[in-house]
Amino acid sequence: MTTNKSGERLIEGDFQIEDKALDKQLRPRHLKEYIGQQQIKENLNIFLTAAKQRGEPIEHVLLYGPPGLGKTTLAHIIANEVGCNIKVTSGPAIERAGDLAAILTNLEAGDILFIDEIHRLNKVIEEVLYPAMEDFALDLVIGKGPSARTVRLDLPHFTLIGATTRYHLLSGPLRNRFGVTYRLNFYEPDEMLQIINRSARLLGLSIEKKAAEVISSRARATPRVANRLLKRVRDFVQVKKSPIATADLAQAALDQLKVDPLGLDDLDRQILRVIIEKFKGGPVGVSSVAAALQEEAATIEEIYEPFLMQLGFLQRTPRGRTVTQAAYEHLGLKFPSEKQPKMV
Ligand code: ADE
Repeated sequence: MTTNKSGERLIEGDFQIEDKALDKQLRPRHLKEYIGQQQIKENLNIFLTAAKQRGEPIEHVLLYGPPGLGKTTLAHIIANEVGCNIKVTSGPAIERAGDLAAILTNLEAGDILFIDEIHRLNKVIEEVLYPAMEDFALDLVIGKGPSARTVRLDLPHFTLIGATTRYHLLSGPLRNRFGVTYRLNFYEPDEMLQIINRSARLLGLSIEKKAAEVISSRARATPRVANRLLKRVRDFVQVKKSPIATADLAQAALDQLKVDPLGLDDLDRQILRVIIEKFKGGPVGVSSVAAALQEEAATIEEIYEPFLMQLGFLQRTPRGRTVTQAAYEHLGLKFPSEKQPKMV
């Protein structure tokens, strides 16, 4: 499998250290520069304009969807569009209720607090968040034992933007406290091409249309992956002293990285193979697949499966995961005749 210097998968949507500089350079700063997610953009535009016209802070926003699709980018765009400050933190970074209290009391009216991976907040901290979101109040417990009492502190009217890859892990009360919820979807091929061309322009790389298509087809419908692959292609083109990224060079660069033409790497293929070879193509529970691969079930569910399902290679059924005929064919395997739908 191809990994970067830190041993992370090249084609994973998850944020990696090498994305930091890229993000800074390539991240769109305004809604009109943001490509794709048309419905969200239209909806957000109205939502933000209305709040601006009323001179009010916006309601709390929840963004969810697979990694790398632009949740953090959208949070920054929202802050930019309304012209307010944004403080960025994440669920796992807030370890104690006191950490959250410190963040909340340092906010100013109209500020945005962005909590990434909000599903990883622990229950105690979530409970501090409820009155903060609903009433802009912080309930502090002073003292211990029988003499303990609660003091309510007023907070400035802030906006929380939460982002998560795992919507179903958020508790009902937390979900219900968001005024709007947007689900980001994988990008369409033409949107991916626009994103790749825009990024190439910003990176000062000339790129042929066919080269952009090679990158797009291997980027898992995920802009973050596309930008990462584009960077590798740029290096390759530079070393080969070509004035332009051609399809052949892009293909050669990405072949070296062992990303196949549909964007699958060894691990994706292994997941499909394990289900086919050890579990007769399924149905099989995700925990059995995880155990066979010595991976965590949550990682398989969250990181690998969404794209395999998007490709139509994997199905989640009530009885477990099944691999489809298209996946057998992609792996060059024969689809068992007993699995063919019977003619009547
Ligand atoms: N870079 C990453 N995601 C993007 C998007 N949705 N639009 C434009 N550029 C991007």
